[in-house]
Amino acid sequence: MVMLGTQFLLLLVSFSAKWVTSTGVGPCPRIKYLDNFNISAFTGHWIEIERSFYLMELISSCVRMDLSQNFKGNINVSITSKSRWSGVFSISEGIATVSKKHPSIFVYKVISTLPKAVSRYLPGAGSYQVIKTDYSTYAVLYSCTNFSFATYPLANTDLVWILGRQKEISAEIRSEIYDFLAFYQIDSERLILAQNLNCN
Ligand SMILES: *[C@@H]1O[C@H](CO)[C@@H](O)[C@H](O)[C@H]1NC(C)=O
Ligand SMILES: *[C@@H]1O[C@H](CO)[C@@H](O)[C@H](O)[C@H]1NC(C)=O
Ligand SMILES: *[C@@H]1O[C@H](CO)[C@@H](O)[C@H](O)[C@H]1NC(C)=O
Repeated sequence: MVMLGTQFLLLLVSFSAKWVTSTGVGPCPRIKYLDNFNISAFTGHWIEIERSFYLMELISSCVRMDLSQNFKGNINVSITSKSRWSGVFSISEGIATVSKKHPSIFVYKVISTLPKAVSRYLPGAGSYQVIKTDYSTYAVLYSCTNFSFATYPLANTDLVWILGRQKEISAEIRSEIYDFLAFYQIDSERLILAQNLNCN
């Protein structure tokens, strides 16, 4: 019990530290929209490779995402993850609606029937942009929120999510992604490798 308490405290401390580094000064960067984004090529099975920190990190591993286009042209999202504590797999479901701004931007809504205790740690509702993908190997999702004061955005907090069709991506692709993020001054130092061991 005491052990668990200490661990939890450490996790909380590292959480606040990461949270600080994921907050940038000024408004969210404007990332160029992908040309000819092909939604149907983007659907299918994805495996979490790296992510910037969010609370789910505390409890999840083996994150898998399945995307299928529904009859309305939006995307049904099913996210499977394994609890690091109990080893139990759980599924969260949601719908990603194509934004009017651009087909590579999705507004995600959770329609999960999971117990609240679990679902509140999953990536939440919000706007996600596919900022880079080759469809067959990797995809980079980005979500950013401005913190404004009197309508002037003073700071932003963002989330970077690197997905792969396989459990790993090559060093070349990884450095291409990091260069791309650096170009927009998105810090890749804070990206953490996802846990993909013993996932079956
Ligand atoms: C953040 O603020 C900037 C400057 O006002 C604005 O151009 C941009 O659209 C905002 N981004 C988001 C994600 O709200
Ligand atoms: C989009 O992707 C699908 C599935 O990979 C493919 O069949 C289709 O030809 C692509 N469309 C365009 C316009 O490239
Ligand atoms: C998408 O989800 C809706 C309900 O959430 C379901 O009725 C529909 O069959 C699903 N479509 C696909 C293509 O999975």
